[in-house]
Amino acid sequence: MTITDSKYTEVMHAVEAGFAKHPKRLPSWLFYDEAGDKIFQAIMHMPEYYLTSCEYEILQSNKDKLYQYFSKHDDAFDLIELGAGDGLKTEIILRHFQDRKAAFRYMPIDVSATVLSSLTHRLADILPKLVVHPVNNRYDAALRTLYNDDVNRKVFLFLGANIGNFDPHEAENFVSMIASRMRQGDQLLIGFDLKKDPRLIQAAYDDPHGITRQFNMNLLIRLNRELGATFIPDQFRHYPCYDPETGMTKSYLVSLRAQDVYIAALQTSVHFDRWEVIHTEVSQKYDIPMIETIAAASELEIVDFLYDCKHYFCDVLFKKKN
Ligand code: AVI
Repeated sequence: MTITDSKYTEVMHAVEAGFAKHPKRLPSWLFYDEAGDKIFQAIMHMPEYYLTSCEYEILQSNKDKLYQYFSKHDDAFDLIELGAGDGLKTEIILRHFQDRKAAFRYMPIDVSATVLSSLTHRLADILPKLVVHPVNNRYDAALRTLYNDDVNRKVFLFLGANIGNFDPHEAENFVSMIASRMRQGDQLLIGFDLKKDPRLIQAAYDDPHGITRQFNMNLLIRLNRELGATFIPDQFRHYPCYDPETGMTKSYLVSLRAQDVYIAALQTSVHFDRWEVIHTEVSQKYDIPMIETIAAASELEIVDFLYDCKHYFCDVLFKKKN
């Protein structure tokens, strides 16, 4: 497997900056190399990772309601998905909208060209009539160009609790960035994982199969391969920790002994004390007031809360304030 020069530089800078912080940090986008993408697929199929089935249920039972919301103006719209991944969940509504003869085109945005091309090929197989315009760019740059070159009404999807990988302040900034681009009539659907029994959340990130452990450890394997680092994964422990007060799950890799790790690409060694942590991910859980705060800060209006039957998860529909 090879990586492009720009990706290599991006990874190198992220690692250099992250290891200079206290506590040490690695950004969670580093999880998603080829191996990490596969492990994440396995996570989404674990019974403990309730998020996937909850959002499936929400989309399945609300697909017609969403069709009504999205096509109520009777004009053509762009259905723009931020971070589409494998598009399996979205397929539920894409299929339904097509059956209802909605006038729309599907625009998945992703920074990974590989993810986009496999999604586009899969959709061409299963929904050959669907108009798909993939956008291979970062979200902010993609949003700029989307509004530059046409006038279709826009409906944005940000599903899968991806918003949880921002801390609440970053989430507010991100939603404000989208909202600042939106025009009257545009809509935004965001999937939030909700606060619930802390033990259920803890189990989703500390599964007994060791799959999430593998996901976290894959970061070190990636740095060994791409940056010539000398991490011995067994000398670190996967440790996720849910705080029911703030709703934040933080994932760590904890150094099991004092050790120095050489990183060839940086021509330097990084020291870890015994029990020192690398903070690798935030998975924020929300309650309704927190979601309302995001809406207020972004000057968006909440149109509807769509829940699964257990109220574990919520897809929230926002629109631009009149
Ligand atoms: C992609 N994201 C919403 C997942 C989450 O739940 O934070 C990533 C993940 N990390 C560990 N398990 C799943």
